[in-house]
Amino acid sequence: MAYSMARETLGLTQPGQIDTPQISFAAIEIDLVKWKGDMLAVGVTEKDMAKDENLKFKNSILLKLDKQLGGLLSEASSEEDFTGKVGQSTVLRLPGLGSKRIGLIGLGSTPSEIVSYRNLGETLGEAAKTSKSSKIAITLSSSEGLSAKSKIAIASAIATGVVLGTYEDNRFKSEPKKLSLKSVEILGLGTGSEIDKKLKCAEDVCSGIIFGKELVNAPANVLTPGILAGEAMRIAFDYSDVFTATILDVEQCKQLKMGSYLGVAAASANPPHFIHLCYKPPGGAVKTKLALVGKGLTFDSGGYNIKTGPACLIELMKFDMGGAAAVFGAAKSLGQIKPAGVEVHFIVAACENMISGTGMRPGDIVTASNGKTIEVNNTDAEGRLTLADALVYACNQDVGKIVDLATLTGACVVALGRSIAGVFTPSDDLAKEVLAASEVTGEKLWRMPMEESYWESMKSEVADMVNTGGREGGAITAALFLKQFVDEKVQWMHIDMAGPVWNDKNKSATGFGVATLVEWVLNNSS
Ligand code: BES
Ligand code: MN
Ligand code: ZN
Repeated sequence: MAYSMARETLGLTQPGQIDTPQISFAAIEIDLVKWKGDMLAVGVTEKDMAKDENLKFKNSILLKLDKQLGGLLSEASSEEDFTGKVGQSTVLRLPGLGSKRIGLIGLGSTPSEIVSYRNLGETLGEAAKTSKSSKIAITLSSSEGLSAKSKIAIASAIATGVVLGTYEDNRFKSEPKKLSLKSVEILGLGTGSEIDKKLKCAEDVCSGIIFGKELVNAPANVLTPGILAGEAMRIAFDYSDVFTATILDVEQCKQLKMGSYLGVAAASANPPHFIHLCYKPPGGAVKTKLALVGKGLTFDSGGYNIKTGPACLIELMKFDMGGAAAVFGAAKSLGQIKPAGVEVHFIVAACENMISGTGMRPGDIVTASNGKTIEVNNTDAEGRLTLADALVYACNQDVGKIVDLATLTGACVVALGRSIAGVFTPSDDLAKEVLAASEVTGEKLWRMPMEESYWESMKSEVADMVNTGGREGGAITAALFLKQFVDEKVQWMHIDMAGPVWNDKNKSATGFGVATLVEWVLNNSS
């Protein structure tokens, strides 16, 4: 992420430039034993590892490689107890041969899902990093039964895995590491323009995912609402053939009567920025109009209902703009792919939820841009207040479908855990579309009920509604709240990604949402 605007940050931190991994991918056909480079890796299933009574591989590809290596491969796999299980890998150094190393990477018993191949790519990327390889190749030991279409999908999943597996966000280290990997050749999965196109598309999606991760990883003193707006403007500038950008300041938001959003922003010294990017296809003709709306809290302290206690995660609340990151990550990818026939609006009401004498108090009543009044019984339920005005704005863009993404509720994390996002929509058709897209990308979504009777807990004595119901069903009442700001004519979906936004093991952003949004938009293009 390059920051276009000169500025002074709190703590004087400036992100370094990272060498975004410029890895080139090529699908080629070549006799494996003739391939030259740093590492030749083979993705193997547990079945492929079967050996006959003479301890020779039954699989023809492994048998051939093993012969060339004088039996080293079968020996090593037995000694190291490599059986092809998921995540297992073994790398042999081969001094004097065309390929300096041969690696085996486990695919499990029967890799039925496309995620298996993305995981294969990730393991490969990590192995390439460990061995400081620059040129590597990957093939599968059994690809005979696969259709041309699945081979292309597998190649693209492997490429995605490699890019994301090698990527490290070092921008805030004083001595960043350099990436050695330059080229990946995919062997035995076909050649030609179709697979090349798919690999290019995978790279475009990856660059959007990485951009999204960098936005989330950037701390709140560096990524303020103004800087987030600058990053969005940069996308519009970089792909100016298809994008236009509109950024609204406080005054302009006041004119649009966005009292709900401005209430949340009121305590912060960093002013809010309402961000709207519009993608129009190169040819001009538009059949479908879509909007992607993201929650963009660059920091969520909770406000006067401040986040306290050991499990409140206040130190992680820089990730509260994960929805916005998914939306702008998708924008970046689509700026490169340039799909036809579809217009897409990317909308983020960016701000900080802070505490000060100018801030919103618990009990205040705010008025959203559709005229509805909200009694703020909890300042920590701020995301929905910003989304309310963003959704009203999205509905005014003459779109047929809206998907919003938000790190909205801890309740959704309790319900579905860290790997699965909750999906809320009154539209079965839209549910089908987006869930189908997520099947392809491997991002996990689970449809949740929009139980209307729970609205009871959101009723206010003094205003049209409160912003928080009880603890029970908290993700559902949040979704019901958002529904108050969406036109019934528009198909709308809310995705609560509070769990999947962050990888607790890596202490890093996941880039969740980008891939599925891009896939969904492409499915809506012509
Ligand atoms: N950003 C949080 C939601 C969140 C919490 C995301 C934990 C990821 C991890 C949101 O603004 C929030 O504070 N929600 C409250 C709502 C409550 C006050 C009704 C919550 O979930 O506790
Ligand atoms: Mn909050
Ligand atoms: Zn929040």
